[in-house]
Amino acid sequence: MSPSPSGPASKNARAVAAQLLDRIERDGAFANLVLASADLPERDSGLITELVYGVTRMRRALDHLIDGFVSDPPDLTTRNLLRIGAYQLHMLDTPAYAAVSETVDAAPRRHRGFVNAVLRRVADVEPAWPTDAVRLSYPDWMAERLEADLGRSEAHAALEQMNQPAPVTSRPDGYVQDQASQWVAELVDPQPGERVLDMCAGPGGKATALAGSSATVVAADHRQHRASLVAANAAKTGVSLGGVVAADGRHPPFSPHSFDRVLVDAPCSGLGVLGRRADARWRVKPDDVEELALLQAELIRAAFGLVRPGGVVIYSVCTMTQAETAAIDELVAQEHPEAKPAPINDPRWRPHGRGALILPQDHNTDAMFIAKYQAP
Ligand SMILES: C[S@@+](CC[C@H](N)C(=O)[O-])C[C@H]1O[C@@H](n2cnc3c(N)ncnc32)[C@H](O)[C@@H]1O
Repeated sequence: MSPSPSGPASKNARAVAAQLLDRIERDGAFANLVLASADLPERDSGLITELVYGVTRMRRALDHLIDGFVSDPPDLTTRNLLRIGAYQLHMLDTPAYAAVSETVDAAPRRHRGFVNAVLRRVADVEPAWPTDAVRLSYPDWMAERLEADLGRSEAHAALEQMNQPAPVTSRPDGYVQDQASQWVAELVDPQPGERVLDMCAGPGGKATALAGSSATVVAADHRQHRASLVAANAAKTGVSLGGVVAADGRHPPFSPHSFDRVLVDAPCSGLGVLGRRADARWRVKPDDVEELALLQAELIRAAFGLVRPGGVVIYSVCTMTQAETAAIDELVAQEHPEAKPAPINDPRWRPHGRGALILPQDHNTDAMFIAKYQAP
């Protein structure tokens, strides 16, 4: 875990963090949006942000540490204060006296004795984790699925890595984009004069990167507001697109075989970006993976219908389940046996099916899968 932001925090920083955590859990609010809309006192914003993201990620492990010492379940705000205290005690380098006394001070007067008693016990406990999913703080299904798909040790390394805050990287044009996404855009490799379709383009990270080449890039997204974001981001980064369309990639409003290259940066379970989206692990459901795999299959099928003979289809996702990566590649092998997989000759990527995969622990980036095919 990263060290606690230094400097004294005002008394209510932990109380503010607990209120924001309440909203994330009770209202299902997104952690990043809750933080962005809160008017945080400047001197405490680093600590509050660290506590909100960290406690959201580690919620399950923290509850395990706490639950050994509470008989009656506390109300949500008190629970969040206990989690904040336990997080500082076991996952940040906060000295025990400070973690306990400052969290007790943030509690309503009538709960202070209880918070104090529980945190003193939590401070002394040597954690005994019943399972790796509890220790790493993920839902059972998610840990089990990644263990089955990647093997235990790679899965645990990925899950461990995504408990760290993900680094923020910016492109030379100032657009904030994860490094692995930038590598995907490089591998799309548009050639001068080509007509390229980005079929799932919102909010425009890859489309704006591709539009910097001398190809004509058409961007589509089935949600109108996501398509509008692509146009706004193109204006912001100063690139011009060959069109932005709100359209369902499964029923594309384009002539068959009218593109030289089609990128399907498909909607996915996002299990490779859990370091960046602190609350997502509690939001994604097991059935989402299967449903998204069906959608991904339909999108890649449509992409083959849009690319010219000899053109290139690129499939990418920011996840690492077998169903959304290698199984999609197997489907392409069955449905388009004559399409040639293009080798990804780049040591940053691990071969995966006939495509390539990056895991979060490889380069401290999001996880990403890419496969590239040349149509017959
Ligand atoms: C992984 S995101 C794309 C990220 C984008 N390429 C970038 O680099 O910024 C997937 C996108 O697919 C869109 N989407 C979902 N279903 C779709 C469909 N049936 N047709 C087209 N786009 C779809 C979502 O709205 C979302 O914006």
